[in-house]
Amino acid sequence: MKKINVLLGILLLSVSAMSVSVASGAEPIVIKFSHVVAPDTPKGKAAEKFKQLVEERSKGAMKVEVYPNSQLYKDREELEALQLGAVQMLAPSMAKFGPLGAREFELFDLPFMFPNKETLYRTMDGVVGKRLFNKLETKGIVGLAYWDNGFKQMSANRPMHRVADFSGMKMRIQSSKVLDAQMKALGAMPQVMAFSEVYTALQQGVVDGTENPLSNIYTQKMHEVQKYMTLSDHGYLGYAVITNKKFWEGLTAEQRSLISQAMKEATVYERSIAQLENDEALAKIRAAKTTEIDTLTEAERAEWMKALLPVHKEFENVVGKENLQEVYNIAAQVAKEETLAREKIAANKKSIKK
Ligand code: SIN
Repeated sequence: MKKINVLLGILLLSVSAMSVSVASGAEPIVIKFSHVVAPDTPKGKAAEKFKQLVEERSKGAMKVEVYPNSQLYKDREELEALQLGAVQMLAPSMAKFGPLGAREFELFDLPFMFPNKETLYRTMDGVVGKRLFNKLETKGIVGLAYWDNGFKQMSANRPMHRVADFSGMKMRIQSSKVLDAQMKALGAMPQVMAFSEVYTALQQGVVDGTENPLSNIYTQKMHEVQKYMTLSDHGYLGYAVITNKKFWEGLTAEQRSLISQAMKEATVYERSIAQLENDEALAKIRAAKTTEIDTLTEAERAEWMKALLPVHKEFENVVGKENLQEVYNIAAQVAKEETLAREKIAANKKSIKK
């Protein structure tokens, strides 16, 4: 009996030793997260936050390798790499989904589409955001979150106040037909180019100017090769964080839940720093004194809007009439709530005075 117990004990010990060695020797699940911007941008910092959360919470069973600055792939290549499973996660700007056949994402590129961030977040987090993610499923892609960057500013080697100032200027754009139409409506000549090539193209005069949020302009040093910048907030740039569907479905429910929770927290963090990063970038560009910075006057803005708003109608069938209408409705609702809030504050002040 004693002998049997000892044998049983040895057996149990060796089984548990085996499972320990399997657990400790098991290869971690690797998530390669590729992106095209600098690490010290809203997207770069949020990718690092996501990595930290996933690795901590999975206790090393999952590893996130972040590859910034187009280190692995440029814009278009990275989408192909994701579909092929060479990388597991990306956060391309919405303007980059057109070549995938998901042109509805170009809704976010429409000029003067979002009057404020509140309208934008409600669009991303509501039915429109869901509808766009559903579109990706047939492409072997799953949408995980929407990340912010900010409103875009124009830069060039010529001042840009009036619409006529754009006449004949070669402007770099992302691969979006809406952005192509936007530049043409201003009288400029749009040129699609990968983000990693913009600095050299500006420096060598291959293009005259470009548009981007300030954090991208500063971290890519574009301001060093651009004499003028107009703070115009004429359009928006944000991201869809996506993963390979096969990879996603190959994970266990617990692993997916851990990643989803980390992504949720990284998204809150990302949205909380986006504006700050852009404000800081503006201060640094001002301090560099390489670029004359102007802000659009009300009259100039009205002229830009007159030239650019017809692009909404031109693309309503591409971005989806119902999506477009939904954004208009959200914007109207946000404006109404803001007016009510202002009226409430005024009424409170009045009653305190009495
Ligand atoms: C990005 O923010 O991911 C790049 C934007 C661009 O291509 O201009």
